[in-house]
Amino acid sequence: MTKYNWGIIGAGNIAGRFAEDLKLLPHARLKAVSSRSADRASSFAKRYKIPDWYDSWDGIAGDPEVDIVYVATHHPFHFENTRACLETGKAVLCEKPFTMNRRELDILVRTAREKKVFLMEAIWTRFLPSTRKVLELLESGELGKLTSVYADFGFRHEFDPEHRLFDPAKGGGALLDIGIYPVFIAQLMAGPPEKLQATARFAPTGVDHSCDMVFSHGNEVVSSLNCTLLSDAPTEANILFEHGWVRMESWWLTPGPITIHRKDKRPRMVKFREPGNGYHHEAEEVMQCLDRGLTESPSLPLDFSLDLMGTLDAVRAACGIRYPQDNH
Ligand SMILES: NC(=O)c1ccc[n+]([C@@H]2O[C@H](COP(=O)([O-])OP(=O)(O)OC[C@H]3O[C@@H](n4cnc5c(N)ncnc54)[C@H](OP(=O)(O)O)[C@@H]3O)[C@@H](O)[C@H]2O)c1
Repeated sequence: MTKYNWGIIGAGNIAGRFAEDLKLLPHARLKAVSSRSADRASSFAKRYKIPDWYDSWDGIAGDPEVDIVYVATHHPFHFENTRACLETGKAVLCEKPFTMNRRELDILVRTAREKKVFLMEAIWTRFLPSTRKVLELLESGELGKLTSVYADFGFRHEFDPEHRLFDPAKGGGALLDIGIYPVFIAQLMAGPPEKLQATARFAPTGVDHSCDMVFSHGNEVVSSLNCTLLSDAPTEANILFEHGWVRMESWWLTPGPITIHRKDKRPRMVKFREPGNGYHHEAEEVMQCLDRGLTESPSLPLDFSLDLMGTLDAVRAACGIRYPQDNH
């Protein structure tokens, strides 16, 4: 496999976890990091042994030695950061949610396709062994036809108007930050919804504190989904078939076991041994695609992300969740 130089934009929490996992991949080299603050950029570079750092994101976009950029800023900046990198020909892995709305994502996808540059949303859960196994069970048909998806993601976070989760200017709110995962698994299993209902509760800053959704997917598959910052929630995904069901165990969106339940049989738990935090799978996917000359991942194509963002827009419209980017 070719060796690739990575750059990271944004020296925050998830950037650190990703940087740790990149070290698991011998053909990945962390070449540069950027932060708005020179202090944060240089201390991040020192901590993860990264040779170069910049005090603005366009340093990464303009670095001729960087092949792939991981965009790890808050959601409202994904659009600008990703677009600049695509314009300079960098492959981009951009954190979820890809953008604030479908209109922004349409522009990024058009740019990537016109320039024939690789682009993928960093939905790391797609590449975890647990998700692959559940997809295998779905595709094999051994449990019969899919009937329902029940998935949630929630934890209690005390209200803090300064925290990114509650600040509309930082793309705060439960749906875009954590609700995207239940919506993702429902779409992966059953396709985008044909009809949906949704309701939200709101924090004093106007962002959604929680969101409950029901999707009708066609073929009589229905998904019931929830995300919340109000309660420590089960955070499980239960996938129901005609002849059994699969539970992706608690904190299902992170590396963890699944349990397969079949009528008249004892439940069987399948565990997966994982090094690191689990972010290396998505990074590996990017490099394998580049090695094959692909500009999109066959496992997480841009049309999937466009549908996902369209659904998030529709859920927001149904509940009245709005952001400044909606007015542009
Ligand atoms: N895949 C996952 O498991 C996972 C987990 C958590 C978060 N995320 C996603 O990752 C993204 C970052 O979340 P986080 O938890 O890492 O947040 P964080 O720790 O607050 O850091 C995010 C970075 O965003 C940058 N940023 C903040 N305000 C900015 C502005 N006005 N202009 C430009 N850059 C700005 C900052 O970069 P500098 O200050 O360094 O410039 C900051 O370090 C979010 O989109 C979130 O959805 C994904």
